[in-house]
Amino acid sequence: MRALTGIKPTAMPHVGNLLGMIEPALRLQHSHDAFYFIADYHALTTVHDAERMRTYTREVAATWLALGLDPARTALFVQSDVPEVCEIAWLLSCVTGMGLLERAHAYKSAQGDGRELNVGTFTYPVLMAADILAYDSHQVPVGKDQKQHVEMARDMAASFNSRFGEVFVLPEPLIRDDVATIPGLDGRKMSKSYGNSIEVWADAKALRKKVMGIVTDSKGIDDVKDPDSCNVFALYKLFATPEEIEALATRYRAPGLGYGHAKQALYEVMERRLGAPRERYTALMADPISLEAVLEDGAARARQVAAGVLQRARHATGLRGTPRKNVGGTHPAT
Ligand code: ADP
Ligand code: TRP
Repeated sequence: MRALTGIKPTAMPHVGNLLGMIEPALRLQHSHDAFYFIADYHALTTVHDAERMRTYTREVAATWLALGLDPARTALFVQSDVPEVCEIAWLLSCVTGMGLLERAHAYKSAQGDGRELNVGTFTYPVLMAADILAYDSHQVPVGKDQKQHVEMARDMAASFNSRFGEVFVLPEPLIRDDVATIPGLDGRKMSKSYGNSIEVWADAKALRKKVMGIVTDSKGIDDVKDPDSCNVFALYKLFATPEEIEALATRYRAPGLGYGHAKQALYEVMERRLGAPRERYTALMADPISLEAVLEDGAARARQVAAGVLQRARHATGLRGTPRKNVGGTHPAT
């Protein structure tokens, strides 16, 4: 069973990315053949600065490794190291109706912002479908906002298969079921575009400062409080043990706990989880040669699979292609 996911190098990863996607994906490493990549082609729809692109790409790669991606088991690679996906995107675009793309949330919201849109933003879901289908992926761990894109990939695969035969595996999204959307400092979805995020690798001081800035209501120390409607508690639940969660909830419901105390408790459990990985992250960022070796090895593994799938798709459509024996030449279900 293959698990695949991608994350764009558009900023340093935040706690929403960590809890909503990266950690759930890392938990699949033992049960799945995992392919995780850095979606630089997708980032190019918005990042138009080569130096920033390179830096974010390294930061995202180091983030996966610092958090426990095992490169011996899981292929970690950069999307653009597998240019076959661009060709697969073209094949898919020829069976995809404009209406499907016009209904994509991401495009609609970009349109709503009144920005001038590039074609890449419009066809973004086709490239994402190609990413998923290029590797015969079965499950795609993502945050809730990406569910629609994975469903579109499934629709494109079905539409291609109905015309050309069983070429693509139909993927499904895997979404964290306890908490689908991680809240940010202001209680809305944590997102780099809302400016309400906590960077995963903020140092201890900056992390504490961010936590102290979480928005709460104005209840005083002796007012009883509702943990279930509090942003601080919502994040605490994601970092603390069940006993700690129960204990803090009890303190919320009695006088004597100020929000400052709750924030300090949150900071401590976050620092406990992130402190050691932060040191690994710093070491990885200081060793670009080792990082590059991991990415090259991941790309070689990914590319071999994508080349086989592309070959299959070319053959099915009547495009020319050199038949390559035993390289994904048959549908894996057969
Ligand atoms: P952002 O919304 O900050 O631009 P991305 O779109 O780069 O984040 O998200 C990368 C991955 O992290 C996606 O799978 C996305 O669904 C997930 N993700 C991002 N923010 C959150 C959040 N607040 N809660 C849950 N998952 C999230
Ligand atoms: N669109 C995803 C995001 O914004 C990133 C992405 C690109 C992706 N290709 C993918 C995620 C394939 C999962 C599978 O977060």
